[in-house]
Amino acid sequence: MIMDGNGRWAKKRLLPRALGHKRGVETVREIVRAARSMGLEALTLYAFSSENWRRPADEISDLMGLLRHFIKSDLEEFVANNVRLKILGEYHALAPDICELIDTALARTAHNTGTTLAIALNYGAQQEIARAAQAAAAKGPITPESITDELDTWDMPPLDLLIRTSGELRLSNFMLWQAAYAELWFTDVLWPDFTPEHLREALNQFGKRERRYGGR
Ligand code: IPE
Ligand code: IPE
Ligand code: MG
Repeated sequence: MIMDGNGRWAKKRLLPRALGHKRGVETVREIVRAARSMGLEALTLYAFSSENWRRPADEISDLMGLLRHFIKSDLEEFVANNVRLKILGEYHALAPDICELIDTALARTAHNTGTTLAIALNYGAQQEIARAAQAAAAKGPITPESITDELDTWDMPPLDLLIRTSGELRLSNFMLWQAAYAELWFTDVLWPDFTPEHLREALNQFGKRERRYGGR
């Protein structure tokens, strides 16, 4: 999921952007619960892109504050509900205390076998592919398979459905490699307004699509 539209959600209501992000976190919580109850094997959330560092420092600091708070407040729920947490992207570039929180959360959920919740943090797909290609080259020939095995998603199922909210029709450097044969679903709904009902609708439509992978 490319969770987009927090800023516009706030602007429409004449609220500060930070409040849009705050509401966005509440949506995250609801959508993770819904994904769990629907039995999704994996859910990936694009939370902060490697290009989002271009935003004003106060907005970045708001987002990092929300991230800190989210990990602290929701970790026990993940542990209790068999959610395996995973991070995509170069999260070690985040503040040391956030890295520590993340490492604790990863360790505490590592053996969970339910839904994998992957959060993309300081994530860019081109950077991910470059890193994977380098790692693959160090081991042997570079092939589509050897690169796939070195991506941050190496232990996740193939990407089936990619959802972007807020009406933008672009991928913004998200899972470019994995999206090769993913189904795409775009909605004008802004992320803070996105509900489990919207997710259900996307999954229903996904279920009706015919995937051909180039064959016939
Ligand atoms: C998505 O909302 C959240 C992040 C990118 C972190 P935006 O902040 O991009 O909201 P818009 O696109 O300005 O409405
Ligand atoms: C993509 O949204 C990144 C996240 C949702 C984290 P952006 O709002 O950053 O994307 P652009 O700038 O509109 O392409
Ligand atoms: Mg945006």
